[in-house]
Amino acid sequence: MTIKHEVPSYLTQHGIGPWGDYLEQIDRVTPYLGNLARWVETMKRPKRMLIVDVPIERDDGTIAHFEGYRVQHNTSRGPGKGGVRFHQDVTLSEVMALSAWMTVKNAAVNVPYGGAKGGIRVDPKTLSQGELQRMTRRYTSEIGIIIGPNKDIPAPDVNTNEQIMAWMMDTYSMNQGSTASGVVTGKPISLGGSLGRREATGRGVFVVGCEAAVKRGLDIHGAKIAVQGFGNVGSIAARLFADAGAKVVAVQDHISTVTRSSGLDVAALQAHVQKTGSVAGFSGGEEISDRAQFWAVDCDILVPAALEQQITVENAGSIRAKIILEGANGPTSPAADDILHEKGVLVVPDVIANAGGVTVSYFEWVQDFSSFFWTEDEINLRLTRIMREAFTAVWQLAEEKKVSLRTAAFIVACTRVLQAREMRGLYP
Ligand SMILES: NC(=O)c1ccc[n+]([C@@H]2O[C@H](COP(=O)([O-])OP(=O)(O)OC[C@H]3O[C@@H](n4cnc5c(N)ncnc54)[C@H](O)[C@@H]3O)[C@@H](O)[C@H]2O)c1
Repeated sequence: MTIKHEVPSYLTQHGIGPWGDYLEQIDRVTPYLGNLARWVETMKRPKRMLIVDVPIERDDGTIAHFEGYRVQHNTSRGPGKGGVRFHQDVTLSEVMALSAWMTVKNAAVNVPYGGAKGGIRVDPKTLSQGELQRMTRRYTSEIGIIIGPNKDIPAPDVNTNEQIMAWMMDTYSMNQGSTASGVVTGKPISLGGSLGRREATGRGVFVVGCEAAVKRGLDIHGAKIAVQGFGNVGSIAARLFADAGAKVVAVQDHISTVTRSSGLDVAALQAHVQKTGSVAGFSGGEEISDRAQFWAVDCDILVPAALEQQITVENAGSIRAKIILEGANGPTSPAADDILHEKGVLVVPDVIANAGGVTVSYFEWVQDFSSFFWTEDEINLRLTRIMREAFTAVWQLAEEKKVSLRTAAFIVACTRVLQAREMRGLYP
């Protein structure tokens, strides 16, 4: 069933992309919002969207221009918070959806933020380090009018990392005239970053995966795991599952798919990717050429940890996993969700499963404000507690209302956001 949504003039029905998936998720939760449903349109309209031109001088002397975005979806519960993505397929629709999922995620795990996201439409692999730095700095200057430690705090996402965050922090600080370490999270430790932040999203995926496995009566020791995306989120989650005795039987990245039914050596695969940039050519596994076959791999837990709109009506039927752990944002379309539900597959939604990153980003921000830094054990303990509590609360609500975990997470989150909206009232 295709639900047609009202499309703002700056998008087309044809080009609605991930934003359309998000709107459908909001439609599914609306009947459960009671009187707060009166405010639900708030969730369907990003508060503020900035589109910027990012010009740089290339190393060969030519001038290149890139599209840059920063969307603040909602700030009812606190400043905007969400990553920055550098990818050739970034669109306004994608950044809108990712910012909205941040609003939902931050409310679902109850960190005091609204939702935001940013991106540049570029393949960073085509840039030199100098060009990458110039592009990052120019983008930061352009969005500098709406970000800030109390306004909107970017973080890493696809193809951005600690170095990019350091350049963003420095550029913003230079423009302000004083060091503002709290303007971004996911920074290097030496610049006010937090221990445990780099691993936090993957660790959160693992923690929630263990909770879900208990509910499904699945022993992690010996469980078969398949992971799509072997970057920050996917590789860390894979490693933690392997360390816990699970077998990582398949990994797919943007170039290739490697499998081994007895389990891949995750540390060796990480070293290979570090060296070559991809899982392609890894000698410790068998490469499969048909990418679509990845979805039909014999596994217990499937972790999509690459991009959105990966699990669709085309492949949902072939999935054999008992549990899907959404490391990526928005990997499953609403129609695919329905197919998985009918098959009895437990889908742990992105807004819970990958919330570990923003949770430790919150710790980093708090540490920066107080200039007092915690130990890694303290961070991991607090992270684990928040993830478990959020999962348990959503699980209980899903049972009570007889809805999916996604709808339950959206009920918790939308209620928090819309209550804040109602209490604050509309100005003027
Ligand atoms: N980094 C974080 O803290 C964080 C937090 C929450 C959610 N996420 C989400 O997790 C996902 C991955 O982010 P990341 O930070 O690990 O990015 P990353 O850049 O570190 O890694 C991305 C990985 O996805 C792979 N990939 C890209 N396109 C692909 C395709 N078409 N098919 C298969 N694999 C593909 C890449 O090869 C790479 O292995 C994104 O959806 C992101 O929004 C990230």
